[in-house]
Amino acid sequence: MLEDYNSRTKKSKALWKRAVTLFPGGVSHNIRDFGMPSCGSYPPYISRGQGGHIWDVDGNEYIDWWMTHYSLILGHNDPVVKKAISDQVEAGHHFRIPNEPQVKYGEQLKEVVPLLEKMRFTATGSESTMYAVRLARLFTKRKLIGKTLGGWHGGNDALTYHMGHPYSDAPFYNGVSFDYNNRESLDEMLKKHGKDLAGIIVEPVIGAGGGIPPEDDFLVYLREETASRDILLIFDEIITGFRFRFGTAGDKLFGAEPDLLTLGKAAAGGMPLGVYGGREDVMALAAAGAEGGRWVGGGTFSSHPLTMAAGLAVLKRLREKKKEYVRLNKMGDSFRERLNEMLQEMNAPLTGTGYGSITFVSHLTKVLEGPLKTPGQLGALFDHDKQDIFQGYLMQEGVFGYHGLGALSFTHSEEDVEKTLAGISNAVRNMTC
Ligand SMILES: Cc1ncc(COP(=O)(O)O)c(C=O)c1O
Repeated sequence: MLEDYNSRTKKSKALWKRAVTLFPGGVSHNIRDFGMPSCGSYPPYISRGQGGHIWDVDGNEYIDWWMTHYSLILGHNDPVVKKAISDQVEAGHHFRIPNEPQVKYGEQLKEVVPLLEKMRFTATGSESTMYAVRLARLFTKRKLIGKTLGGWHGGNDALTYHMGHPYSDAPFYNGVSFDYNNRESLDEMLKKHGKDLAGIIVEPVIGAGGGIPPEDDFLVYLREETASRDILLIFDEIITGFRFRFGTAGDKLFGAEPDLLTLGKAAAGGMPLGVYGGREDVMALAAAGAEGGRWVGGGTFSSHPLTMAAGLAVLKRLREKKKEYVRLNKMGDSFRERLNEMLQEMNAPLTGTGYGSITFVSHLTKVLEGPLKTPGQLGALFDHDKQDIFQGYLMQEGVFGYHGLGALSFTHSEEDVEKTLAGISNAVRNMTC
C-alpha cells in the first residue's frame, strides 16, 4: 500500500526492526508508531529539524505538523532558544540545587499569567496534572476527580482513563467523566457525584480527544457549577497555553478562571517542562510540613536549568511575537475552512476540527452532517483503522502528523499549507482507489 514510502525509508525500517526487539510495541510512547504498523509499515526515524520541516534518517523531508507534540510554536531549532540552552550547558547543565533561571522564569510566567499566584515546576506535563489533582483532593478532603471523555492529561494513574472510544475502561481509582460541551452530561455527573468531587480537570480546547473548542460558554457554565459546589476547577493548558495568544486561553479567550492550571509544551519550546499552579491557599498545601498537606512535588529533573533557560528564551521570543499570534491563528482557521470545504466536495467521511493553529483530521465511519461538537460524538463515529491508513498515506505525501495532523508554528509558510491540502486530497483519493 505504501510502496513509495517503504522504498524510500530503508534505514528507518532497519531501526524499527531493532526497536521492536527492545520496546513494547517498538516505542516508548504508545502513539509514536504513528499508526504505521496498521498500514504494514513503520514510522520514519527523524534525524533533523528546521523551522516547520523535519528530515528522516534516509534524507526524506516532511512538513512537520506534529511539532514535538505541539511544543514547537517557534519552529525547530529557533536560534535564540538554541543559544540559551547552549550557554546554560557551558555553565553546567544540572545541579539539583536551586538555580537563578528558575526564579527568573517563575517571575516572568507569573507576570504573564497572574492566575499563577504560586507554582511549581516538573519535568513533564503528566506529573503536573497528577500533582494538581492531588492538591484538589487535599484541599477539598474529597477523593473523586472528574474529567472529559477523550481528555488526555498524561500517563499518570489519576487521569489515564476514558481517552478512546468506547470510553469503557475502568479508572484506576476515583475517576468519573462527562462529555465536553454537553451540559446535560455535565449536569448528570454533578447530580450523581457533585458532593464527592474534589476537582474537575479540562483542557479549554480538547486536544487528543478531537480538537474541540468550547461552545456556548461551556467553560463559564462549568466554572459556575463547580464554584457553587466547592469543586476545584483545573484547566490543563499544556497544549493551549501560549498556543493561541501570549498567555493562557481558558480565562482570556473563553471567559472562565480556574482555581489551578497546568502548563508545559510551548511554554518551554521543546524542553521537558510541566507547571502546576494557581490559588495561593491551595498551592500552600504543597510546601513541606504544611498543615493538612501530604507529599506534593519532587523530581530529580524538576526545574532543570536547561529547561528554565529555554523557557526564558521562549518567553522573550513569544513576547516579541505577541501580535503575530493573530496571523498564525488566522492561518490555521482559514486552512481548516478550506480543508472542510474540500472534504465536503469529495464527499469524504473525514472532518477537520480545531482552533487557531491547531487542526485535527478525523476519519469517521460516515460523512458527517454539521460540525463535530463533542468528544462523545467523535468517539461514536471514529474509524480507527481508516485513521491509521489515512495518516500512512499522508506520510507518503511528505506530511507528518498525528491525530490526523497537528499544529502550525510561526515558521510554517503558506506553501506548507498548500502542500498539506494537496497531500490530504491525494491521501483521501488513494484510500478510496
Ligand atoms: C493536554 C495535555 N495534558 C498533559 C499532557 C502530558 O504531558 P507530558 O507528555 O509532558 O507528560 C499532554 C501531552 O500530550 C497533553 O496534551
